Amino acid sequence: MTEDKPDIPQLKEDLCAAIDVAAGLEGLEAVRVHALGKNGVVTQLLKTLGGMSPEERQTEAPKIQGLRHDISAALDEKRAALEEAVLQERLASEVQDMSLPPPEPLMGSIHPVSQVMDELAEIFADLGFAVATGPEIEDDWHNFTALNIPESHPARAMHDTFYFPSGQQLHSGSPANGDGAPMLLRTHTSPVQIRTMTSQEPPIRIIAPGRTYRSDSDATHTPMFHQIEGLVIDRDITMGHLKWTLETFLKAFFERDDVVLRFRPSYFPFTEPSAEVDVGYSIDDKGRQVIGGADHWMEVLGSGMVNRRVIAACDLDPDTWQGFAFGTGVDRLAMLKYGMDDLRAFFDGDLRWLRHYGFSALDVPTLSAGVGA
Ligand code: DAH
Repeated sequence: MTEDKPDIPQLKEDLCAAIDVAAGLEGLEAVRVHALGKNGVVTQLLKTLGGMSPEERQTEAPKIQGLRHDISAALDEKRAALEEAVLQERLASEVQDMSLPPPEPLMGSIHPVSQVMDELAEIFADLGFAVATGPEIEDDWHNFTALNIPESHPARAMHDTFYFPSGQQLHSGSPANGDGAPMLLRTHTSPVQIRTMTSQEPPIRIIAPGRTYRSDSDATHTPMFHQIEGLVIDRDITMGHLKWTLETFLKAFFERDDVVLRFRPSYFPFTEPSAEVDVGYSIDDKGRQVIGGADHWMEVLGSGMVNRRVIAACDLDPDTWQGFAFGTGVDRLAMLKYGMDDLRAFFDGDLRWLRHYGFSALDVPTLSAGVGA
């Protein structure tokens, strides 16, 4: 036996080399059968142990069993590596991209007028004011007469009113106006004061934003524009309440604590006494008007204590109920806050203007986050 004693280290080296280069699980299986199969070279060697003398077996058995152990360990290791490679290959080929494509840039934007109206509603909601509305096609009584602007009143001429042709049918079968007077496009939001006082019981606290119309057109006037009206009717209301409300509103709107107001005596038929309210501003180094301080003044609001005659016209007792009212231009407020200089561009529908001055639909004005954020 000794003369053809197998060279175990050489055999191990050969088998390990074969395992090493085995390509794929099938190739590896062939190497396994060749080494450890029923007639494999290592199996054959193990069988020779039976025919050995005890002494010889004592020295040869550890070598042969060691060989079997090493080869089977090398096979296991290689199989694990091949299986892992197969798995990785499968994973790579079966990959699905589950990510969503990046969102399209948002189309469309909130018009500055809508934005400012939302800001105003937010500010006044916080002060307990509800939002009221009224028709844009108004009758003479609500737009003028009930607001203490009788027919002969010069204020009517000042309003550049758009009248509908006399007697025009605005609703099927009904005359234009109960008393035959022509209907008109409301010249201000003040008729909503009347509609609110005649339809709900005091106490009243409302704002009324909306479209208004006058036959007027230049850089700061368009035939259609936007106003917001405020009305408070309760017991024991004073000008102090008016002043505090307007100050609180304008500070919140311009988002500055240094907003300074100046109340100037004025005249409106529907308020007595009446005040026009100026807000202080300064000019920055680029020549722009910046709200705050008291260097210069610009008029922003009309206001006053609701005239007794208006309260009485709404069938309320002016000895019980008093209040204040104010009105201002929403477009003007937007121009002042967001720096546009031509009102006509507001209504041109120019996409470049809208993209530049528009607001994201997702940026809802809130007092906590800043109304103009
Ligand atoms: N209606 C007035 C206008 O169109 C604005 C106004 C002034 C409204 C004083 C008011 C007010 O409620 O009290 O110019």
